[in-house]
Amino acid sequence: MTIQGKYKLKGSLKISGDKSISHRSLIMGAMSIGHTEIHNLLESKDILSTVSILRKLGVKIKKKQNSWFVSGVGTCGFKQPNQVLNAGNSGTTSRLMFGAVSTNPILCTFTGDQSLSSRPMKRVTDLLQDIGAKIKLTNENYLPLSIEGNINSLPLKHIITKPSAQIKSSIMLAALSISGQTTIIENQQTRDHTEILFKYLGINFKKEIYKNGKAKIKVSGPAEIKAKNIDVASDPSSAAFFTVAALITPGSNITIKNVCLNKTRIAYVKVLKQMGGKIIIKKTGKISGEIVGDIKVRYSNLKSIIISKKLAPYLIDEYPILAIAASQAKGVTTMKDLAELRFKESDRLTSIHQNLLNSGIDSTIVKDDLIIKGSRNKIIGGNKIDSFHDHRIAMSFSILNLICKKPLKINNLKCIDISYPKFNQDLKSLLVNV
Ligand code: S3P
Repeated sequence: MTIQGKYKLKGSLKISGDKSISHRSLIMGAMSIGHTEIHNLLESKDILSTVSILRKLGVKIKKKQNSWFVSGVGTCGFKQPNQVLNAGNSGTTSRLMFGAVSTNPILCTFTGDQSLSSRPMKRVTDLLQDIGAKIKLTNENYLPLSIEGNINSLPLKHIITKPSAQIKSSIMLAALSISGQTTIIENQQTRDHTEILFKYLGINFKKEIYKNGKAKIKVSGPAEIKAKNIDVASDPSSAAFFTVAALITPGSNITIKNVCLNKTRIAYVKVLKQMGGKIIIKKTGKISGEIVGDIKVRYSNLKSIIISKKLAPYLIDEYPILAIAASQAKGVTTMKDLAELRFKESDRLTSIHQNLLNSGIDSTIVKDDLIIKGSRNKIIGGNKIDSFHDHRIAMSFSILNLICKKPLKINNLKCIDISYPKFNQDLKSLLVNV
């Protein structure tokens, strides 16, 4: 779209609702008693997969003007679906919904697209089998899979060794209809939107956070959730694309408004600040339990950094765009232990690395570390970029495109609709001619 030196980013923008909070608002609205009105719901393909599955489970969901209305059926009120439940490309839809249906007396078959069908599911289904659900997986780890829910599921203690909010949330949703106390130990804390919504909705649970980074969650069920309207904060992972765009495009100065400033989601701001990024965060309030505020960003001379393994769960969706920032930073940036990136919408470690190399940027993978040698403002462009049908790869290289001398040829930009259909429109609204 753009050629180096032609544009800078100026002005302010409110971006769409957060993807994680949007999924959870719909699912928890469906598991409530009464009607939930949701504002600023993200209307992306992944979220529409959640809407479609909930409807097949007998939940009435309607859109009127700018709000979405969910008629709750309670934690144990899903109807036997007469169709397969297709989660499309969405890991969050599939894994959270496994937990939500696993304690209902119904038999569900889940499918997904090619990418989702190659992502591991056993990490979630093992825990649900332990509580009593009967689950049949393809090749013991993959979709399609069937779940026969168990209304008498057991209140157990689960230890989650892989840092994953999807695993944690799946078992938390199941716990809502289990009689007794379910205990979840997270060896490393992950994003906590499920806990925040539980608290906002008045659900009986406790969370303790330990100094060593572990967390313990206790949910006492069965729960009856009283429906309450939800306002979705704007997506910090989507904001990250424009944050980096402004940092690497000379003359830029932008403000992104109403962004969710949840600590488990904005570690990328800390990292970019350590790289020399001129970023100011201003808290403006709280919506539906989440802190929100504005992110102000100015063009900056970035320098390299070593990103430790400990930060991985808090940067998991931002590594692709952080790699673009690293490509423009002075020195060599190392991102440690990105093993989990291999199990995302594409093998993101390989997708980032190959596309950086194709763009003439020095990138190496050593074990699961990604090492990028920055070459500020010297991207010639004109090369082919394979999005691997991965929305975050497509958006990250669209941002790199802003500073390329010749436009990048990125295939399948349509996949951006998975998380951010308004990406191009929003990006264009910030671009001004130099
Ligand atoms: C998500 C959790 C993360 C993240 C995904 C959304 C969520 O996945 O990558 O985009 O909403 O819980 P994992 O929990 O598998 O790391």
